[in-house]
Amino acid sequence: MSRIHEALKKAEEQRPPAWKPADPTPLGFGDDGIAVAAGAMQSPRREEMPTAGRCLRLEELRQRCIKPGWKLSPDYDVFSTKQSSALCAEQFRTLRSRLYRLREKSPIRTLLVTSTLPGEGKTFVALNLALAIARQHERRALLIDADLRASRLHVRLGAPSAPGLSDYLGGRADEFSILQADPKVELFLVPAGRPVGNPSELLANGKLKGFLNGINSVFDWVIVDAPPVLAVADAGIIAQFCDGVIVVVRAGETAHDLVKTTLQEFRGNNLLGVVLNGANEGADYGGHSYYAGFGMDTE
Ligand SMILES: Nc1ncnc2c1ncn2[C@@H]1O[C@H](COP(=O)(O)OP(=O)(O)OP(=O)(O)O)[C@@H](O)[C@H]1O
Ligand SMILES: [Mg+2]
Repeated sequence: MSRIHEALKKAEEQRPPAWKPADPTPLGFGDDGIAVAAGAMQSPRREEMPTAGRCLRLEELRQRCIKPGWKLSPDYDVFSTKQSSALCAEQFRTLRSRLYRLREKSPIRTLLVTSTLPGEGKTFVALNLALAIARQHERRALLIDADLRASRLHVRLGAPSAPGLSDYLGGRADEFSILQADPKVELFLVPAGRPVGNPSELLANGKLKGFLNGINSVFDWVIVDAPPVLAVADAGIIAQFCDGVIVVVRAGETAHDLVKTTLQEFRGNNLLGVVLNGANEGADYGGHSYYAGFGMDTE
């Protein structure tokens, strides 16, 4: 059994008594990682976005995208000044560092964040990972809400929900009108857009692939928030267009067998690792200091 499976099994055995959203003790990663100073690693920076047959400069993108003025709730932002979030923020920096380490080995830039079941913390992880990146000097992150069935990113950010991805995929909006920017940090958002009746068909129609290919060179990281795997096929479709997949597992809640099924879907393809969300500080999750594991699952 791999170390990640051991950790998941242990987490299931040590199921915490209750979930406490008010006290966000969130994520953890194994003690086998190598600390990398934030911002120490250089990633290639290309500032052109080929789209509609021509190349757009970053400055044009900045000028033409929407700047609605988000109202990010401090309850969802682990980098807010709330003291209880300090440990959580540190773990998102660790996750960020591990992703930069993985990038040293393979060219990853577009990340899909998914999970087995609803409510495991995909949006929480996607948003705070993007914030961790955008808070670095001269780093630029794009968040895409590809959960066209239960979109939440715009709610967490206090941003308009449309026009967004569904409108672009349906041919009702162009690249610029679906991109929102924050004037303070280098964080951009593509919200999910207007509700549609055929999300899977839209995601598979080829336009998402083209959009990601065109836009990802403008950003240091592109983070795609997806629906859960067991409910619908959407995450598997989007994963084909992403460089890597992160699977969020809610500590002590998601059954081990179900997580195994999810990991099998992406193993051998582009699975990067697992984030154990909501783990108890100090708990022993099978060989990891406390919390969980993030890394390659080699089983
Ligand atoms: N580590 C955490 N600490 C505290 N609250 C959390 C944590 N992770 C998630 N939550 C809370 O749990 C709820 C579900 O989280 P979230 O919306 O991120 O899950 P999701 O997997 O994206 O759900 P869905 O499948 O519905 O999209 C939210 O209210 C969120 O604020
Ligand atoms: Mg979500």
